[in-house]
This record gives sequence, structure tokens and C-alpha cells, in this order.
Amino acid sequence: MAFPKNFLWGGAVAAHQLEGGWQEGGKGVSVADVMTAGTHGVARKITADGVHPGENYPNHEAIDFYHRFKEDIALLGEMGFKCFRTSIAWTRIFPNGDDAEPNEEGLKFYDEMFDEMHRHGIEPVITLCHFELPLNIANKYGGFRDRRVVDMFVKFAVTCFERYKDKVTYWMTFNEINNQRMYNNDFSVFTNSGVIYKEGENREAVMYQVAYNELVASAKAIIEGHKINPNFKIGCMLAMSPTYPETCRPDDQIEALKDMDKSFFFGDVHVRGHIPSYTKQLWKNNGWEIKTEPGDEEILKAGVVDYFSFSYYMSYAISSLKDNPNAIKDLFIPGVKNPYIKASDWGWPIDPVGLRYMLNVLAERYDNIPLMISENGIGLHEEPDAEGKIDDQARIEYFRAHISEMKKAVEIDGVDLFAYCPWGPIDLVSASTGEMEKRYGFIYVDKNNKGEGTLNRSRKNSFYWYQKVIASNGEDLA
Ligand code: BG6
Repeated sequence: MAFPKNFLWGGAVAAHQLEGGWQEGGKGVSVADVMTAGTHGVARKITADGVHPGENYPNHEAIDFYHRFKEDIALLGEMGFKCFRTSIAWTRIFPNGDDAEPNEEGLKFYDEMFDEMHRHGIEPVITLCHFELPLNIANKYGGFRDRRVVDMFVKFAVTCFERYKDKVTYWMTFNEINNQRMYNNDFSVFTNSGVIYKEGENREAVMYQVAYNELVASAKAIIEGHKINPNFKIGCMLAMSPTYPETCRPDDQIEALKDMDKSFFFGDVHVRGHIPSYTKQLWKNNGWEIKTEPGDEEILKAGVVDYFSFSYYMSYAISSLKDNPNAIKDLFIPGVKNPYIKASDWGWPIDPVGLRYMLNVLAERYDNIPLMISENGIGLHEEPDAEGKIDDQARIEYFRAHISEMKKAVEIDGVDLFAYCPWGPIDLVSASTGEMEKRYGFIYVDKNNKGEGTLNRSRKNSFYWYQKVIASNGEDLA
């Protein structure tokens, strides 16, 4: 058997993409609540000054998990989930981020949710900050530009650790913390760090400062978490897409190496506990003074992660040639087209072998650290047929190919992989486009991009397929 007996098969979501109830239970407004729906190629509008009448804010209702979590968790239980990754909406606990006291109603909501998971034998895996910072933090403090926000995050983390210390073992601090490496993209710095750029400032330097502050916040939270419960497993979460050189042209190798370093910076600090020399050199070459505080070095060193988690959706290809005709013009996909692989309807390259490659790269770089695939999946256009069935063969094939590669990484390459959480086991709001119709689920939710629909849930064919995969511990992929 390739996978260990206690392997955690599950799925992953984020609070803002499925809960809804954006103004219920004392919840404050988050950065996700002021993002309108976009479409592929058209970015979501950020209305940081508040909610504008007449605009469509898909996260306000999302799929109403806030009221339906019992029914939904029962469906995950029926599939045989061993774990379920979701996030705690910071604004349910500290509505403004800088509140003196936590909101008891918000804390109770997650108590009930975690109890419900345990009733179904599902282990909660909890992200503390998944693109849902309090909007007040973005507007009043400039997000993580302000060092005071580090302590606000740590206070939020400690509140959660103390409250749920007997219900949650697996934690992660910041979701896809390395997305902001694409510093020119307004979406990533806003969702990662609550940052809105100012006219004329050096975006890359700002990004490194906020990233630095977040890495310190993460390390501080990890140190505190281990004091509260030494059995906690606290990890990081990065979006890991291998960047391949377009050709064997030596300059393409350099481009690919430098591109990967932009992500490894985050992973290296999380795992190795210090700023890597190549990043210090980059700061020096550019004359960027990243503000640090006395004691930071010790904090980074002591607050290293227990495991490394990453999302895997695609690989990139990169070229050293300027004006390369194969260049991809997409907000989220850098580089050039890879002729050896196909892409999804949203242009996301589909590369199962890249997953095995990434697992190996991480295992080698970080001395076989325990790994979790905290997201993986494909967004598809889907509609029920006349009998209400959804035949999502393309999703089954996607997962079959990815799990097969993951199996090779475990069985042949010996990587220490302990969990697999496909993204969006139930249809939810897309993070990048705000669409409902970019569907990832094993469970269909009746709601369209305009927000119309009954919100009824139904099982797609992949539901039964994944149920079988879990029951056979990954042996039966037929
Ligand atoms: C990751 C995020 O970037 O990918 C999720 O952690 C997101 O929040 C997922 O939903 C899929 O991306 P999208 O844009 O298709 O929803």
C-alpha cells in the first residue's frame, strides 16, 4: 500500500468563499467582502471604501455554509473524509482586527463546526488567515505594512489556539503567503496582506516589507501555539508551481531559478528560520531597507513550522527572451505557454507530473519535512443533465492523474506526504474571479454567477469516485 494507514484524505475550503453570513453573528467586514465578481480575464474590483450599492459581492452569501454547515459536513463524512481544511474568519473573532476582546458568538460558531467535524470522524485542519483580513486593518493600518498588525494577528492566533486547543491539532498561519511575489498584481497584496499600493511607491520593496512582517507574525504565532499545546502541528501554506525553463538555453535556467527563489524565500524562512542569503542580496542590490526589530532573528529561528503545506494547480514555463511570442497574458500566470501540456477552461496549465516534481523538490530542499497537499483541483463549467445528474468525468481524470503522480512520489521517491486536500470539495466562490460557475466540487451547489439558485446540494459522479479512493486508501483509482 502506497499511502500510510492514517493518511489524511480530505478537502479544503476557506471561510470567505463558502460561509456567507457576512454580517451575522457579530462579524466585521473583511477584505473579501469588498471584492466584486469578475470573470476570467476581468479582475475583481476592490472597493476598499466599503460596499457599493448595485455591485455584486459574491462572498456576502457565498454558499451559505454559515447556516448549512451541518448538512455539508455530513456529506463530507459520507465521502469518508478524514480531514477538512477550512479557515477561521478573522472578522468573526475580532470584527475590526484591533478590538480589545474577541467576539464570543464567532468563537461559538467554530466550536460547533469543529464538534460537528469530530462527530463525523473528520480532523479539522485550520488556516488562520486565508485572504480575509479585517478591512479595518487594511484601511487604518495599511495592512501588514504596519508592524502593530503583527501583534494583532498573534492575538487572534492565540485566542484561537487557546479556545480550540482540544479540538484542533493541525494549523497553518497564512494561506498562499507567497502569492504576493507577483507584486504588480493589486489582488494578491490586498488579499494576502491588506495592502493597497500608493501612487509611485516601489511595489516590490513594499511587498518584501509586508511579507517580512507576516513571516515574523507567523513565527511568533507558532512559538505561542506550541506553548499552548505542544502537540499542535503548525504549518505554512504556499502556492507551489514549478517554473520550468522554456528551453535548455542557459539564460532560461537562470530565469527559472530566480523565479522559484521568489517562492522559496517564503518557504525558506518558514522552514529554516532565517532570511536566505539570495534574498538579502536582492534587497542589497536594490538598496531596499527592510525594517526589522531587535529580537526578530531569534523569533524567526524559534518559530519554524512543523510541516510544509502547499497548493498545487499548475506549472509555469519561463523564458529569458524579451517579446517572446509565446508569452501568456494572464493576471495569475507568468511566463510562456508550455507546448507539452493542456490548460483548463480558465487557462490554468494542467500538469500532474509537476506535482510529483514539486513534492520531490520540497522533500529534497527541506530534508524530507512532512508535506501536506493543502489544495489541488480543477475549475470546470458544469450543469446538471435532465435527470439532475452531473457527470464530471474531466474532474475524475484530473484527480486520477494527480493522485497517481502523488503515489509515485510516496512509493518510489519516498517523500513524507501525510495529507491530501482537494480544493473546494463543495462548489464555492472562486477567489480569483469571484465566479460561482468556476466549479471545483464533488458536490454541486445550485447557484449561478448572478447569485441566483436554490443553493441545493447534489452529489456529482466524482463524489462516488473520491469516496472509493478514500475507502481504498488511494489504491482504487479506477
Ligand atoms: C488558491 C486559494 O489560490 O486557489 C483558494 O488558496 C482559491 O482560495 C483556489 O479558491 C482556486 O483558485 P480560484 O481562483 O479558481 O478560486
